[in-house]
Amino acid sequence: MFWYHSTTKHSYNSVRTNPNRLSWEDQPSTYKNYPEHYKKRKLDLEKEEENFLYHIAGLTAKKSYPSGEYYLRINPSAGALYPNELYFQTRGVEGIEDGIYHYEVLSSSLTLLQRITDDEGLEPYFGYKTAMKGYLFLVSAIYYRSSWKYKNRAFRYCLLDAGHLLGSIEASALLKSNVVEMRYDIDREKLNLMFGFEDREWMLAGCSMAIPIEDQDVSPIEFSLPYVDGSRTFEPNPLIEQAYHETMHLESCKREVKAPEFTYYTEKLQETLFKRRSQRGFQEGAITKGQFNYIMESVHQPVLSDCDEEVSVYVVINRVLDMPLGLYKEGEYLKYGDFARKAGYLSLEQYSLSMQGAVAFFLTSKAKNYQALYQKAGIIGHRLYVASLYMGIGCSGIGAYYDDEVNAFVENDEMVLYALAIGK
Ligand SMILES: Cc1cc2nc3c(=O)[nH]c(=O)nc-3n(C[C@H](O)[C@H](O)[C@H](O)COP(=O)(O)O)c2cc1C
Repeated sequence: MFWYHSTTKHSYNSVRTNPNRLSWEDQPSTYKNYPEHYKKRKLDLEKEEENFLYHIAGLTAKKSYPSGEYYLRINPSAGALYPNELYFQTRGVEGIEDGIYHYEVLSSSLTLLQRITDDEGLEPYFGYKTAMKGYLFLVSAIYYRSSWKYKNRAFRYCLLDAGHLLGSIEASALLKSNVVEMRYDIDREKLNLMFGFEDREWMLAGCSMAIPIEDQDVSPIEFSLPYVDGSRTFEPNPLIEQAYHETMHLESCKREVKAPEFTYYTEKLQETLFKRRSQRGFQEGAITKGQFNYIMESVHQPVLSDCDEEVSVYVVINRVLDMPLGLYKEGEYLKYGDFARKAGYLSLEQYSLSMQGAVAFFLTSKAKNYQALYQKAGIIGHRLYVASLYMGIGCSGIGAYYDDEVNAFVENDEMVLYALAIGK
């Protein structure tokens, strides 16, 4: 098991001996805005391409607390800390000048960071030799936004949240009937340098929604952006820095070339993405077996990727009509019984989610490429959100669980990556 993962496990004792006191006034900013002299323009949601971009990471709700107002987004995020930033290259996209952009969440704008030419672009950093028509996305993390609260465990959340953002790209691409491919084997070192991240922000993954332009070779574009602060405050976390740097280079990657198939109606999907929220607690309502099967079909679709790592999905059936209670994996029961209370306890005693929900999930992996496997867990989690909400069923991600006790329950010794619950 990767040392970082072992040293960031939660246990019944650890969460009681390391209480976390936070002052919300010190919360790092969750927005990165490039200075005004960059060329920016607001998204026009009437335009198909810009509507597509908005449905990846746009603001969709406002919450008011005594400490201030907060905005929630299309994509979920552990603790609503939103550590990730989204960048992309466009080439040959209607209505958008060819170039490299930052998606400015706060103002729903695109910031042009760098123009590209026909024979230069980001393609080689993604492993492509020819020019690619369409979008090449990059997902980064400003880890302090999350480590401010979650300390050493935050790298896990940066990766899960990044996976959700990749899942968000996948879901929004379906509005245009497009498939996307995850690209983990990107040149992180070079990209981090060119984007001026200064080790406070890191590239985690690429994602391509583009097709090759035959006979148009491209060379790697060179540029040097200045550092732009995306968290207001910052404290280095040496453990997380080491974990990132040790997992930057991938090894023995296996490609997944089989495309996923989803059966969503565009209009209903768009409404689902726009209205998506995390359910704060379930009322012990049941779901039907048909709904469960529909959701699982979406979850088990392949993820197109240049580094596909195996992630196991364990399912605790609490309330699915016509299905026996028990622990279930890939269509087979591992054990029968009522494990609702157990699932609630394992999710750091969040009983209103994993116990009162219809189904609880635990995702594990023993694969090698930590950044790729963890982000895949986030993508799977995102598919679970989208499919459940599409069916009118609630969903919540659960990043906090008792790692070793989950292992004992599912009877494996893999890394426990994520838990989720769905229900009514
Ligand atoms: C990786 C991840 C872990 C999460 N963990 C929890 C959790 O342990 N408990 C919980 O109530 N919500 C959890 N959530 C839900 C977030 O709190 C929620 O996404 C965030 O507050 C934004 O709200 P929204 O999803 O409704 O937009 C998690 C979400 C993600 C993406």
